[in-house]
Amino acid sequence: MAVTLQTYLADAAEPGLAGLLNAMVDACAAISTLVRRGAVDEIMGALESENVQGEVQKKLDVISNDILLESCAKAPALAAMASEEMDSIHPVRPVTAEARYLLLFDPLDGSSNIDVNVSIGTIFSVLPVTADAAREATEADFLQPGRNQVAAGYVVYGPQTTLVFTLGDGTTVFTLDPVTGEWLQTAEKVQVPAETKEFAINASNMRHWAPPVRAYIEDCLAGETGCRGKNFNMRWIASMVADVHRIAMRGGVFLYPWDAREPDRAGKLRLMYEANPMAMVMEQAGGASYDGFGPTLDAKPTGLHQRVSVMLGSAAEVERLQKAHEAALQPA
Ligand code: AHG
Ligand code: MN
Ligand code: MN
Repeated sequence: MAVTLQTYLADAAEPGLAGLLNAMVDACAAISTLVRRGAVDEIMGALESENVQGEVQKKLDVISNDILLESCAKAPALAAMASEEMDSIHPVRPVTAEARYLLLFDPLDGSSNIDVNVSIGTIFSVLPVTADAAREATEADFLQPGRNQVAAGYVVYGPQTTLVFTLGDGTTVFTLDPVTGEWLQTAEKVQVPAETKEFAINASNMRHWAPPVRAYIEDCLAGETGCRGKNFNMRWIASMVADVHRIAMRGGVFLYPWDAREPDRAGKLRLMYEANPMAMVMEQAGGASYDGFGPTLDAKPTGLHQRVSVMLGSAAEVERLQKAHEAALQPA
């Protein structure tokens, strides 16, 4: 008999964290239902509004954000939330010994795929917060390295609705049974193969990449005729959750690196609620994540919505990329 999520969390997490994660996953089940209904409910398409990222918001971005806010606010252990879709933090209750967690999320990742029926998802990150006396959480409380996360993961709204997360003791997979509404464990202690023949990058940006990334991808493209001595395959779904899930399941390397289109921007993806949670899932599954300077999880955040370069997945490939970046910094 497969383990249910409630049973797993009751055993693996302290009650406050278990309550928060159950509330968060309940919201994801509701989002999954809406995503499946799509145009039937006239919830597709974009709004007039832009979010703090300067990106046009999809109706489902905002709807998903609201569902998460409403559901998670009920969890007594939650002090405050932050979202890709909200400029500033969303305090829920004063920080106390009970209200001891902060939740960050990208409510709907891969929004450009919503209207064309391609897999999208929700990404989440849980950080601890403490206070000597009851006080409201501040943005500064959120600016912790990803290494501090107590839980992190994602839900993919694809052919299956799949939850992949870690509490710091390995990465586990639960699949939503659409008939019973139960989340059932379908894999535990996921291991990302260290080697791979598959890379994921938006190759249309090739002319804008830094030399180490360009050389790495050119070596992959050279296949068995080049220094890699093997042929590579390429995938790019443009939903980070879907690309990362493929890598979690069968290996691969995902890159959204710095590029010269916006030289002052470290990358497109956001550290706090995209790169950090995915980096924890990867590391807990034997993979790795590198931001062009060091392990993603060691990055010291300077802003709630700061962007980073992301290179994650099979450990041997991430190591190769890190060495190429470090070599590029050596004096000639
Ligand atoms: P979001 O929809 O939350 O803004 O995230 C989209 C991100 C990520 O999911 C994906 O890997 C990347 O944007 C795709 O970017 P391009 O469209 O530039 O390829
Ligand atoms: Mn996203
Ligand atoms: Mn998003």
